[in-house]
Amino acid sequence: MSYDDAISALSSDALKCVKNNYIVGLGSGRAATALVESLGKLIKLKDYKIVGVPTSMQIKLIAEKVGIPLIEADQVNHIDVVFDGADQIDSQKYVIKGGGGALLRENILFSLAKKVVVMADKTKFVKNFTRTVPVEIHPLARSSVIQSLQKLGGKPQIRSLDRGYPFFTENGNIILDCDFGVIKNPKNLSHKIKQTAGVLESGIFLRKPDVIYKAKTGGKFDII
Ligand code: A5P
Repeated sequence: MSYDDAISALSSDALKCVKNNYIVGLGSGRAATALVESLGKLIKLKDYKIVGVPTSMQIKLIAEKVGIPLIEADQVNHIDVVFDGADQIDSQKYVIKGGGGALLRENILFSLAKKVVVMADKTKFVKNFTRTVPVEIHPLARSSVIQSLQKLGGKPQIRSLDRGYPFFTENGNIILDCDFGVIKNPKNLSHKIKQTAGVLESGIFLRKPDVIYKAKTGGKFDII
């Protein structure tokens, strides 16, 4: 089932909040890619002076291709709006992120943003989280964090690439994808994960989006 038409349609709608001179946070992944491609067209059409703040090399390359001027997160003290995808969204509007490994930078942008817009297809909406939680950790904390996550009831697995090589984030860290089963209290769990020494980011984001777009079939979408 393809949601590409809906993602493309909702991207155009989501961009209506962008104004000239905005600092725009650029999330990572497929939904963010569609949005960034539309943003490139918008700034050419309207001659907007926009700067984009990328969350990963993946989105940086797309933004460069479509001609969006870029700046890094440490050079701004706010972001007007950030657009990003999500891996799962629960009924309390918490999101799990980090499927692509960009969670640390994504959460920095969420914290800097006046407005957070999240876009995802309808398969990612659940009552309670059921998917694994990506946890970015310092490589030297591997054993201690694995034990701590197990004590929290999780089953952590080191994320790896094809042929078994460990996946390293752009920050030089590793990711534990941790299965907690059904997560009924994501806020509490995220706090506990983040309290663990060596954990750099939890994929359960506590900043809830201001706007959520749900892509449906047939090019349709809902705004939540
Ligand atoms: C990147 O680390 C992730 O948080 C992505 O934003 C998330 O995986 C959503 O990606 P898609 O839009 O490709 O599903």
